[in-house]
Amino acid sequence: MDLVIENGRIVTTGGVFDASIGIKEGRIEQIGGAPAGRRHIDARGRLILPGGIDVHTHLDAPSEVGSTADDFYSGTLAAAFGGTTTIVDFCAQAKGQSLSEALSGWHGKAGDKAVIDYGFHIIITDPTEAVLEELKTLPDRGITSFKLFMAYKGSQMVDDLTLLKTFETAAASGAIVMIHAENGDAVLHLQRKLLADGKTEPFSHALSRPPMTEAEATARALMLAEIADAPIYIVHVTCEEAVREVARARKRRAGVFAETCTHYLYLTAEDLRKPGFEGAKHVLSPALRQMSDHKVLWRALTNSDLQVVSSDHASWLFEGQKTVGRHDFTQIPNGGPGIEERMTMVYQGVVQGEIGLERFVEICSTNPARIFGLTTKGHLAPGYDADVVIWDPDADRKLVQSDLHHRSDYTHYDGREIKGNADIVISRGEVIVENNAFTGAKGRGQFIARKKASKLL
Ligand code: URP
Ligand code: ZN
Ligand code: ZN
Repeated sequence: MDLVIENGRIVTTGGVFDASIGIKEGRIEQIGGAPAGRRHIDARGRLILPGGIDVHTHLDAPSEVGSTADDFYSGTLAAAFGGTTTIVDFCAQAKGQSLSEALSGWHGKAGDKAVIDYGFHIIITDPTEAVLEELKTLPDRGITSFKLFMAYKGSQMVDDLTLLKTFETAAASGAIVMIHAENGDAVLHLQRKLLADGKTEPFSHALSRPPMTEAEATARALMLAEIADAPIYIVHVTCEEAVREVARARKRRAGVFAETCTHYLYLTAEDLRKPGFEGAKHVLSPALRQMSDHKVLWRALTNSDLQVVSSDHASWLFEGQKTVGRHDFTQIPNGGPGIEERMTMVYQGVVQGEIGLERFVEICSTNPARIFGLTTKGHLAPGYDADVVIWDPDADRKLVQSDLHHRSDYTHYDGREIKGNADIVISRGEVIVENNAFTGAKGRGQFIARKKASKLL
């Protein structure tokens, strides 16, 4: 073997057990027994997890206030330190661009920078007939998920006909459609009313996006997908009202999936009231909700109404990007960082008794791999990529901005006392994080052409 991890406690969706792992040529060769290898890691007292998979990131994403602070180097480096070994990032089509042009742009951003493996979803912002035709060819190029926005009227929002046509194309070509579900008309109407009343501060963001704007769009998207008999994945579900719609749809049919994001498990709309315009750091869409929604989301993650926790890492800087909206909350770029914090913060759910260890790896790694066609990742068994995290379950630490590796100028969780740490991170058999240092090389990450959804769901 090239590498042997011994004395650790392996966590998979199927159970928690003590065994050695033998790794050869980047893959898991053997679990159990006493394999001999060139290097042995003693994982006594620690957990062995499949590397985290974050299927919702926005690295080097352009906007009117400039690009997100993290490119594919700093973003994937931060991911690795947090125990994530694969991301699927959103490649956003610019208006007038073909999807091929958009994808070659994203390959250019990632190719010589990513330190962990990556795939791309495509965001369709300009759904011309030619673009919808081109869409059919993407699954054969390893892009097996298409994202549409029902919010952001006037920029990314698409109409119901586009939703329906995209669902049909996805069903026929082996892709899954990811939906940002908020009623863009209702949000715009409420935004205008709030601004007309002089309500310009960050808290108005939550008032302009009440839970029903999310629940209505969620229900509509789920039904349009049902009409087209297509698989669907609702991104960033935040509240009881939307969870209820997802749960109902999952009872009706297969191929319905949904995620929540780390921040919706810990933050509330009250965070938008922070003084000194700091509330702008928490302007996320859909908006942050109430404490009672946290419980609902944990319960949904436990009973499989929700299957995934993603970061939605969109690292707009507070200084210079968020502050653009100082006098108008609608100008604050939506999103925040979280790629490094995700695994740790979800692990706090284990510490607090919200979820078990098996469910932790399932929602952070195994399910995202299964839903998005990463067939060699997300599990610890012979034949799988040796993407492994040696996790110290007892580490006590404080999560602070200065310790993180992202280029964001804040974290949502600054100062929180937490438990657990990704001590050693292994990507395709190579140790890339150890002793709190990066030991890999810039650009070592590989593009993963994902398998078609129709073969998996
Ligand atoms: O607030 C968010 N979620 N920003 C990132 C873009 C998106 O809508 O996913
Ligand atoms: Zn979104
Ligand atoms: Zn997003």
